[in-house]
Amino acid sequence: MRFGTAALSALFLESAASYDFSGMARSVLPGKTLDKRANTTDIPLPINVEASQYWDGADGPWSSFPLQVGTPAQDIRVFISTNGYTTWTVRPLGCQGQASSVSGCEESRGEFFLTNTSLTWVPNSIFQLGLPNEMALGLDDEANYGFDTVTLGWQGSGGPSVQHSTIANMAYYEFWLGTFGLNPQPANFTTYTDPQPSFMTQLKRNNTIPSLSWGYTAGNQYRFSGVYGSLVLGGYDQSKFEATNLTIPFGADVSRNLLVAVQLITTSDHVQLAESSQAFYALIDSTVAYLYLPEVICTAFEDAFGLVWDDYYQYYLVNDTLHKTLLAEQKAVTFTLGQATSGGQTVNITLPYSAFDLELAFPYVANSTRYFPLKRAANDTQYTLGRTFLQEAYVVADYERRNFTVAPCVWQQNAASEIRTIFSPDSEFGFGENGKSSGISGGAIAGIVIGVLAVIAILAAALWFMRRKKQQKKYAAVELEAKSFAAAQSSSSGPSSPMKEDPHAGVNTPTGGELDSSRQIHEIAGASKPNAAEMDAPSRGELDAAGGHHEFYGKLPQNTFEMEGNNEPIFEMDATATQLHELEPDTRRQSWDSGDDRGDEKRYLQMQGY
Ligand SMILES: *[C@@H]1O[C@H](CO)[C@@H](O)[C@H](O)[C@H]1NC(C)=O
Ligand SMILES: *[C@@H]1O[C@H](CO)[C@@H](O)[C@H](O)[C@H]1NC(C)=O
Ligand SMILES: *[C@@H]1O[C@H](CO)[C@@H](O)[C@H](O)[C@H]1NC(C)=O
Ligand SMILES: *[C@@H]1O[C@H](CO)[C@@H](O)[C@H](O)[C@H]1NC(C)=O
Ligand SMILES: *[C@@H]1O[C@H](CO)[C@@H](O)[C@H](O)[C@H]1NC(C)=O
Ligand SMILES: *[C@@H]1O[C@H](CO)[C@@H](O)[C@H](O)[C@H]1NC(C)=O
Ligand SMILES: *[C@@H]1O[C@H](CO)[C@@H](O)[C@H](O)[C@H]1NC(C)=O
Ligand SMILES: *[C@@H]1O[C@H](CO)[C@@H](O)[C@H](O)[C@H]1NC(C)=O
Ligand SMILES: *[C@@H]1O[C@H](CO)[C@@H](O)[C@H](O)[C@H]1NC(C)=O
Ligand SMILES: *[C@@H]1O[C@H](CO)[C@@H](O)[C@H](O)[C@H]1NC(C)=O
Repeated sequence: MRFGTAALSALFLESAASYDFSGMARSVLPGKTLDKRANTTDIPLPINVEASQYWDGADGPWSSFPLQVGTPAQDIRVFISTNGYTTWTVRPLGCQGQASSVSGCEESRGEFFLTNTSLTWVPNSIFQLGLPNEMALGLDDEANYGFDTVTLGWQGSGGPSVQHSTIANMAYYEFWLGTFGLNPQPANFTTYTDPQPSFMTQLKRNNTIPSLSWGYTAGNQYRFSGVYGSLVLGGYDQSKFEATNLTIPFGADVSRNLLVAVQLITTSDHVQLAESSQAFYALIDSTVAYLYLPEVICTAFEDAFGLVWDDYYQYYLVNDTLHKTLLAEQKAVTFTLGQATSGGQTVNITLPYSAFDLELAFPYVANSTRYFPLKRAANDTQYTLGRTFLQEAYVVADYERRNFTVAPCVWQQNAASEIRTIFSPDSEFGFGENGKSSGISGGAIAGIVIGVLAVIAILAAALWFMRRKKQQKKYAAVELEAKSFAAAQSSSSGPSSPMKEDPHAGVNTPTGGELDSSRQIHEIAGASKPNAAEMDAPSRGELDAAGGHHEFYGKLPQNTFEMEGNNEPIFEMDATATQLHELEPDTRRQSWDSGDDRGDEKRYLQMQGY
């Protein structure tokens, strides 16, 4: 079964080894101070984020990642979005209507985020998901926006955490699971004057990652017994890909950073699916599963693979007969990528047929079927290399130098991960991203850390013993002279006798546990109250018109979903904004119909009672 069957065979050495010492070193010593040239500011190590070990999705299977949201933490599973800049979670409405016929719907969607059970949820309002590339693909819906604690990884794994992180709680079925956005762009709301920093930016700001950068590959189920996705924040995993010389500057449009030129597409039997005269630019975007290619190239794929476009479902469905043929042929497809549509450094990414051998399930089709993850793009704003492509490609993106690379994955079972740091250009290291300055391996760092700790521990123990002896002597003396008030006073002026009973003696904790816990309670209580200043933020008249179409426009409920355009009037949010998020989800109806009109048409939640 595809839904959530954890391939547990898979806690194999690779993933165990890949939980490398960087995490360990981090938990002991926040950052490394080993390089002599290092500024005294600690530079943190990159974070290697472990996949959930689940295969998820209704058009996959895809490797998902674990995320904790809210307080107390709710465990959910999400996909990585290389384009998104907020966290999308699924709310219970996403399993109502026709989705209620999906067995185990909540589990299948990676679990709900129940905002009503989180003590730290700060509601914002209802806005569109509004990711520009997805909107260009006709994929958009409304979501309940708010802020809450978001932590990467399963509970107890010590993953990075951000306390006031933007969350869109949605029901949209085109995004079957939630997503975690890697783009450090801030979110702009009409309900807030200030841009809301992204998860990545907040990690960087509080010195949890060395730079605004990441390395990611989606993983796939067809290599070995399945290879999970791999995500490194603030660096990349050199063991996962072949080094190349291709570096691509970011696209001019901030929402289309990872724009790459596809110079050629060739099959393993030397058929050119895209000739050099048909070269085009495409956005690498793991938010969506499919490849959206120019129609003429889709036609070439149809001829090469015997695909037939299903007009009703808007997919290339693959029946058993065709599947057998394709399995026998094992045709691979090579994408030749470069900076420009011709010339320059290029890189070949080859997708074997298995990369296209995927399954569709309800609600995308009535009955589960195989399909070929290719879609016809209407125009050049739609050309996209989705998650399918990232099964065989590793992307390293550096938002501070504004460049990225795409490289072919290498498949070496149980390879130990080699996490490399990308330093911030403004850090003292300034060595570029080769991680040369982190020449000391994770193991060595851990060794040194352990060594240093051991020395400290021995010294502390020795000191404690000496002190204890002294105190015991004093204590004895005090007892002898117990009747003398003066003697008692002198004993309390030295290291006092009750102190030696303190189990925390020698540990550098100035205050006891009680104080700590009361502080926590205070924090939770504070955070559960909506921040008055934020809620009252002026909702209109503060907007810069140029930033217009990137903004989330607050919407009056009776308005349906017009939201594009720079000169769009900005709706007044005042009273309605606060009423909106108090709505019960049940009072809304979702237009769910799975049939004929799916595809281009936007799904949206129809507000009732207005
Ligand atoms: C460390 O770097 C910070 C900012 O990059 C700078 O203000 C500070 O002076 C540096 N300290 C040393 C000891 O170089
Ligand atoms: C939270 O919301 C869900 C779905 O809307 C509902 O089933 C649940 O009872 C609510 N929980 C609480 C504590 O209100
Ligand atoms: C960064 O923030 C997280 C939570 O928001 C906190 O747990 C962590 O200690 C912070 N790190 C630093 C270096 O301040
Ligand atoms: C990258 O460039 C170096 C030096 O120019 C060259 O030796 C190497 O072969 C190139 N690698 C690839 C994969 O093209
Ligand atoms: C399978 O699909 C192919 C192409 O889509 C079609 O030509 C063929 O008739 C189908 N076979 C069956 C048994 O449906
Ligand atoms: C990339 O693939 C194309 C087409 O298959 C081929 O002509 C070219 O030699 C390949 N380049 C490299 C560097 O392998
Ligand atoms: C789906 O499967 C069921 C049972 O196998 C069958 O009755 C139904 O006709 C199928 N629906 C479609 C659209 O193929
Ligand atoms: C591209 O096509 C989509 C879907 O047909 C359409 O909504 C969009 O406006 C088009 N964009 C451009 C720039 O033509
Ligand atoms: C970005 O550019 C720098 C040099 O300007 C280069 O050293 C680095 O490798 C590039 N990074 C990526 C991810 O391509
Ligand atoms: C939000 O506004 C800032 C400038 O204030 C801009 O840099 C950023 O790209 C905007 N975010 C989005 C998602 O458009």
